[in-house]
Amino acid sequence: MASRDGTVVCPGSYDPVTNGHLDIITRTSAVFEKVVVGVVNNPIRKEKTLFTAEERQAFIQDATAELANVEVKIFSNLLVEFAREQEAKAIVKGLRAISDFEYEFEMAQLNRKLDPSIESVYVIASPHYSFLSSTGVKEMATFGGDVSDLVPLPVATAMAKRLGDR
Ligand code: PNS
Repeated sequence: MASRDGTVVCPGSYDPVTNGHLDIITRTSAVFEKVVVGVVNNPIRKEKTLFTAEERQAFIQDATAELANVEVKIFSNLLVEFAREQEAKAIVKGLRAISDFEYEFEMAQLNRKLDPSIESVYVIASPHYSFLSSTGVKEMATFGGDVSDLVPLPVATAMAKRLGDR
C-alpha cells in the first residue's frame, strides 16, 4: 500500500467525541489520503444519545477544521455499505485495551463477512488516552467532574449545559 493512498472511514457513535477519538482521527489523517468520519445515527439502539447526530457531527467538524483531508458524515445504514458509498478501502478504529478487543474482533469478523473487500484496521490509542471513553466522560460530567482536558472545550460546555438541563 502506497502511503497516503485512498479513502478510509473512521466510524463511531461519538457521543460525544473525546480527545482520544481526535487523536485517532488525526493520526489516521496523516497516513491516508482522505478520512471520512462516520457518525452513527442508529434509531434502533435502545439507549438514547446525549447529543443528536447533527450535534455530534458539528463537534467533530469544529475540532477537525484544520485537517484538510477529513470530512464528517452521518450514516444510518450498515457500516460496510457506508464505507462502500464513500469508496473507502478500509474501516479504521482505535483500540485502547484488551477490553476493546473482544467487541472489535466480533465487529471486524461481522464486517468482513458482509464485505471481505473492506479491511478493518486498528490504531492503538496513545497511552495518555487509553483510559478515555465517551461513557466515562459523560459519567464524570454528570457528577460535576472536570472534563475540560478530555474533550474539546465546546463539547465540555455543551455537556455541562445538557446534563444540567436534565
Ligand atoms: O462503539 P461504537 O462507537 O458505538 O461503534 C459504532 C460502529 C458503527 C462503529 C459499530 O457498531 C460497528 O462497527 N458496527 C458494525 C455493524 C453495523 O454496520 N451496524 C449498523 C450501524 S447503523
